[in-house]
Amino acid sequence: MKILAFESSCDETAVAVVEDGRHILSDTIASQADMHALYGGVVPEIASRKHVEVIAALSAQALRDADCEKKDIDAVAVTYAPGLIGAVLVGLSFAKSVAFAWGKPLIPVHHVRGHIAANYLAFPELEPPFLALAISGGNTLIVDVRDYTDLRILGATRDDAAGECFDKAARVLGLPYPGGKPLDELARQSEGGIYTLPRAHVDSAELDMSFSGLKTAVVNLAHRAEQTGRPLDRAALARDFTNAVSGELVPRAMKALTLTGYKTLCAAGGVAANSIIRADLKASCKEMSCKLYLPPLSLCGDNGAMIGAQGYYEFRSGHTAGMDLNAYATRNIDA
Ligand code: KG4
Repeated sequence: MKILAFESSCDETAVAVVEDGRHILSDTIASQADMHALYGGVVPEIASRKHVEVIAALSAQALRDADCEKKDIDAVAVTYAPGLIGAVLVGLSFAKSVAFAWGKPLIPVHHVRGHIAANYLAFPELEPPFLALAISGGNTLIVDVRDYTDLRILGATRDDAAGECFDKAARVLGLPYPGGKPLDELARQSEGGIYTLPRAHVDSAELDMSFSGLKTAVVNLAHRAEQTGRPLDRAALARDFTNAVSGELVPRAMKALTLTGYKTLCAAGGVAANSIIRADLKASCKEMSCKLYLPPLSLCGDNGAMIGAQGYYEFRSGHTAGMDLNAYATRNIDA
């Protein structure tokens, strides 16, 4: 089954063709990061406009790359939530038009389900059940993936997402948007151990996380250094900050493995590209004799193929939608 898949929930327009949920036939992407870098973050209205400009040409490219035309496509999958509402609406409206004009089924896909499904594209042997650590710019979740379309949240951030925290920390360190990758590179230049940063603990919810205190602490440290003229060891701060984020995520993922009894963990989302978090996950999973799946960097960030992968399993579970399908800025992964 060949699915034409659309993703437009933030600042990447992405269209892909995926076969049977596991094989990427094409995966096109138009990033707007350079444009938003001028403003230090994503400007929602600009994101929507840029999606409108490129989505038709990108779709044609995705079909060409996959050597497919209308008759070869069996269904259309699209991110319908969560994300910047104007941005999601562009992809959704376009996908609806294609599905309607071509008479194909329309499959709604939750964006974070898509991130987790990126692992199905990279690892043919992977099947639920397993535990997923989904860490992106807008979401930070520990998820019990009971089956392809039966997912339950075990833990979540109570405030900022891990990626949002990376982007803000990077900004005060003078790094360009999106800051996760440059901060990762800076952090690798130091062993850290210089700055003491807060660790959060949520009473009676041991798998829940919090990143806002950490974010504020880094912002305050940088501002204080600026005001007093005291030099800031930027690389050490980047390293200590990354260790603190990893210290929130990795032990909780391990705790979730213990609580569920699962022996398989999958990472997902843009922050799963972080080299220090990847190393910490590898070390901890080895210690616990658990199998770890880390998607290749190309499948960590937003892409269309992951929507095609999850779309296949949603279709198999009978999850299709009519032309009244709406976009949602927020939506639980287990809704
Ligand atoms: O998954 P993604 O592309 O978009 C969302 O679904 O939100 O994630 C984007 C986030 C950004 O916050 C970006 O700074 C972060 O992932 N990111 C990283 C790294 N590469 C991207 N964060 C830490 N280390 C990285 N190497």
